[in-house]
Amino acid sequence: MSKIILTGDRPTGRLHVGHYVGSLKRRVELQNSGEFDKIFIMIADAQALTDNADNPEKVRENIIEVALDYLSCGLDPEKCTIFIQSMVPELTELSFYYMNLVTVSRLQRNPTVKAEIQMRNFETSIPVGFFTYPISQAADITAFKANCVPVGEDQLPMIEQCREIVRRFNFTYGDTLVEPEAMIPENEVCCRLPGTDGKAKMSKSLGNCIYLSDSEEEVRNKIMSMFTDPNHLKVTDPGCIEGNAVFTYLDAFCRPEHFEKYLPEYPNLDELKAHYQRGGLGDVKVKRFLNAIMQEELAPIRERRAQLEKQIPEIFEMLRKGSEVAQAEAAKTLSEVKASMKINYFDDMELINAMAAKYAEK
Ligand code: TRP
Repeated sequence: MSKIILTGDRPTGRLHVGHYVGSLKRRVELQNSGEFDKIFIMIADAQALTDNADNPEKVRENIIEVALDYLSCGLDPEKCTIFIQSMVPELTELSFYYMNLVTVSRLQRNPTVKAEIQMRNFETSIPVGFFTYPISQAADITAFKANCVPVGEDQLPMIEQCREIVRRFNFTYGDTLVEPEAMIPENEVCCRLPGTDGKAKMSKSLGNCIYLSDSEEEVRNKIMSMFTDPNHLKVTDPGCIEGNAVFTYLDAFCRPEHFEKYLPEYPNLDELKAHYQRGGLGDVKVKRFLNAIMQEELAPIRERRAQLEKQIPEIFEMLRKGSEVAQAEAAKTLSEVKASMKINYFDDMELINAMAAKYAEK
């Protein structure tokens, strides 16, 4: 069986380092592994509109931001198909048929939908489109027969719901769709990198994100003012590493070779943590270390972005071509889906002949 990846992001803002360690970095590695037959990366503008219906301008402007972030991280349009969700109307059509295979109560139980409804204070005024976005996400995945979906941990309920839809479809209409597997980061801290303020999630509205497109100075300022241990007042005080954002970021970004290069007096991260916990290690030193590591990781991304920012029309052209490729692929699946459901009337000679015969007998 061929190995196919589909994944994507909502274009509601520039991508940040949480996206990077949670998914983007892995995608680039998977792309370069050469192990996959097809890779589809989708800018999910239609999904973004499910809770931004009154602000299409925001979605529109962020399409290119996300594309720039993708390319600057190393996604390569020669090796993967990058496309825009709304340019593939087959996805909407598939969603409509899948809607018959999912109950309202099942959607209400989806933990991600539940959490998002709370976060957005929708309560009793949930837009139907938003409520049903797990179904549209199942269409996104199945349209490409993707068996591998690299995502953050928060997306696991979406993949589970997609698998249920696939099983239900195949059981009802015959084997047609492929059941996908989620692929989440191996390093657990990468699943949910906290904001620079130590809050559980990075979010634009909280102003606690480090963006891939931030300048060197912005990154440094954000790191130097990061949340640590509020009780670690004097260098000699023992410090706490749990809930200390600087150490969480080190868990996500630090590799053994960084010590040799930037902090040779410590052999590894465990020793650095132990010293901090004992007391005698100041926040500034740890922050400077984190800054050195993150600047090293982000500098090439920033440099590529600066080049790419001069090629905006070419990037739109790349997205147009990618969307055409994606549409052709989704159209194939849609016609198989319709054949399985026996709603491909004009291709169905059996139906046409049977109906003709029925009336010929009269
Ligand atoms: N829900 C994803 C996000 O919020 C975006 C997305 C849409 C997606 N369709 C998808 C991810 C299909 C993986 C597969 O970022």
